[in-house]
Order: sequence, then structure tokens, then C-alpha cells
Amino acid sequence: MKILVLGSGAREHAIITSLLSEEAGHDIVAAPGNAGIAQDVAVEPDLDPLDGVAVAEYAIENGVDLVVIGPEAPLVAGVADPLRTRGIPVFGPGRAAAQLEGSKAFAKRIMEAAGVPTGRAVRAETLAEAEAALDAFGAPYVVKADGLAAGKGVLVTADRAAAIEHSEHWLQRGGVLVEEFLDGQEVSLFLLSDGHDVLPLSPAQDYKRLLDGDAGPNTGGMGAYSPLPWLPETFVDEVIEKIALPTVRTLAAEQTPFIGLLYCGLIVTDRGIRVIEFNARFGDPETQVVLPRLVTPLSQLMFAAATGGLGGLPRPEFALDTAVTVVLASEGYPEAPQTGRPLTGLEEAAAVPEVTIAHAATARDESTGALLATGGRVLSVVARGTTFAEARERAYDAIGRIHLEGGQYRTDIAARVS
Ligand code: AMP
Ligand code: GLY
Repeated sequence: MKILVLGSGAREHAIITSLLSEEAGHDIVAAPGNAGIAQDVAVEPDLDPLDGVAVAEYAIENGVDLVVIGPEAPLVAGVADPLRTRGIPVFGPGRAAAQLEGSKAFAKRIMEAAGVPTGRAVRAETLAEAEAALDAFGAPYVVKADGLAAGKGVLVTADRAAAIEHSEHWLQRGGVLVEEFLDGQEVSLFLLSDGHDVLPLSPAQDYKRLLDGDAGPNTGGMGAYSPLPWLPETFVDEVIEKIALPTVRTLAAEQTPFIGLLYCGLIVTDRGIRVIEFNARFGDPETQVVLPRLVTPLSQLMFAAATGGLGGLPRPEFALDTAVTVVLASEGYPEAPQTGRPLTGLEEAAAVPEVTIAHAATARDESTGALLATGGRVLSVVARGTTFAEARERAYDAIGRIHLEGGQYRTDIAARVS
């Protein structure tokens, strides 16, 4: 199959690694990709993933069989729409359904219409409304920006003044949602959807805070592991029945079918499973631990989702081992990452058994060819093992071999799992 993958992060690198592991002779192109992706497949650095018309023209001219849209920005910008209009199979929802991620208020409305369990929330447009909602729910306070905010829009805090300051900041850029605090373990569950039927992937847990012990600010995600041995066996079935199918069917009934990856961000409270957010694409870094264990060919699943063919397919199969990923971030991430620094030791890291590296913000220096770190989250080290202890040891052995001045990573990913 000729597959065009849009995006340039570690998630897209993990998707490409998974497609290559099928050994099916796929012809894969990434736009724009990054330095690591360019080592593995062809890249089109000049094709703008946010320009749907250009992407559609490229796909037609080059005989692309499937377009996979990795990140949220092109989804929310509606890049899938001109592709679908022109009959190109595309994995990723159109602009309307991508609002499930792009607008927290839209997501809440769909959840309400679908009867999906979620925290109570109030949308505030003024500071007075936000303050009233904060006081009505009480501490700990949860304030969310009502739009895409690259992982920085959510504040969970016991500090009322900080909650008010965060509300003020995001009120100037649109509305905010003040939400009931939900207490429990977090789970990311990915489901493939063809607009009507869904198929689940293996659950994962993400570490959203910057520092060990879940301290520091929220980030895009600093590490993850999969599977989650502590989940009850009925968990995935319950999410399908109570959350994913009602959501997909509500969107279909509104003539905005969700075709792509439904990311359910969940909290397991003592009163049951609650949705904290939906995303319209694979999670990063959870994808880096979910896809390596996927046994069913990813290309078949994504193509079936893109062409309305998931119904009747068996659930995807997963290997029984474990996977752990640790994210290497630049100094100053998430507020003000230092960029342009040399990145070395990747070959030594990849030489650790069962370790792969998914590049995110990497580029080659044009004159020297040296690898540089060009953004906040630089790469994900991914390790597999028979046990979590083994996967963890490999991941940390590997990341210890990588050098980036000022580089930061958590040392407690998957430390307490058994
Ligand atoms: P989100 O961007 O919505 O995933 O939120 C980022 C993080 O904030 C989540 O991963 C949770 O750790 C936390 N969070 C979001 N909403 C809530 C909530 N209602 N109760 C407790 N924690 C939350
Ligand atoms: N890891 C969280 C996300 O992808 O949104």
C-alpha cells in the first residue's frame, strides 16, 4: 500500500515503525517528518500538512492508497475533508467530528447527548462566572481552556488564586471550562472507528506531569506504559459500551461521522469510569507503547476504518509482553524549551536489546549533518520486556546513553507497576 503519514512527532514515527514492521512492502511517505523518520522512509518536507487541498493533490498525483493524519492541528483544521471529498481513504476525522478534541464545550455536549459519564463542568465566559463555578465545585480546582492548547490548557490545583489566574489567561483567548475534580487512576484507551463500529487497542497510562512523583506542570506527556495489568478484565468492554459506541453513534446521527482514532482519556473513580477528555488522534507518548505490541497489521486496521470496514473484524491482537517509553525533553520544556543543541548517543541507545527510538523534534544540521534537538519533546525511548522491570531497565539504560545538554526526563515511568 502507498501510505502518506502527516505529522512530525514521535507518534508519527511510531506509526511508521509499526507499518514497516509488517514487512508488507508498503511504500510510506511522511510530510513533513523529522530527522529520525527520514532515516526510515521518504519525507516530503515541503508538503504542508495543514493544507488539505495540497495534500489531496499530492495524494492523487502520487497514487496514495491511504492518508493517515497524525496530529490534532490538521484534523481540527479540516484537512481530512477535501481528501474524503475526492475519494481518498483517510484515517482521521473531518473538521466537524474533530471538534470532539478541538472544543471541550462541543465534547461535553456530545457526551451529554450520548449519556457518556464525565465530570460535571461549567463553561465560563467571564471571570465572575469562572469564580462562581470554582467556588461551587470547591478544591481541588480544574480549569480547562476551551480549545487546542498543546497540553498546556489544563490546570489542576488546590490554589484558588492560581485557578483564577489560569482562568483569566484563557478567558482572553476564548472561554474556559471549570470542572469537577475526578480522583482515580488515569487510562488512555484508543479505539479505531469507521464512523459506526469501533475496535479497541490495548490500554496505556501516560505521565502528564513534568517531574518525578507527578510534580511540576502538565506537559504533552513524559512517558507511558502498556498494558495496564491492574485494570479489571471488563474495563475495555465497559468503555466500548458506555463511552465509545454511544459517542460514535451520536456523532453519526448528527451527520458528522467520526472516522479515525477515538482517544478516550479516562479516570477510574470509585463511582465508575469517567471521561476527562476525548482526542481525535493517537496519543503521544502512549502510541509508542501501544503499537509495538500490536500483532494485527496496523495498515489493515486503519484502511478498514477509513473505508467503513471495521464491522465484523475481530479485535486487534496484542503480544503479551510489556512496553515502557520515556520521553527526553529539552531544557526549559514546557514553558520555554532551549533548541538547536546537539543530540548524540542514539546509536548506542538503540543497541540496547528491544529498544527503539521514536524521534520528535530532531533535525540535521545542514552543513555538518549533526543531529540537533529542535523543540520541547525531543524523542521517546521505547523498550519492550517480558516484565515491566525488564522494559524499564532497558529504557533507562538506553536513555542514559543519549546526550543532550540540559535534557530532562522522568526517572519513575512504570516504577510502581507489577
Ligand atoms: P486533559 O488535557 O484534559 O487531558 O487534562 C490534562 C490532565 O489534567 C489530565 O491528564 C488529568 O491528569 C488532569 N485532569 C483533567 N481533568 C481532570 C478532572 N476533571 N479531574 C482531575 N484531573 C483532571
Ligand atoms: N498523551 C496525551 C495526548 O496525546 O493527548
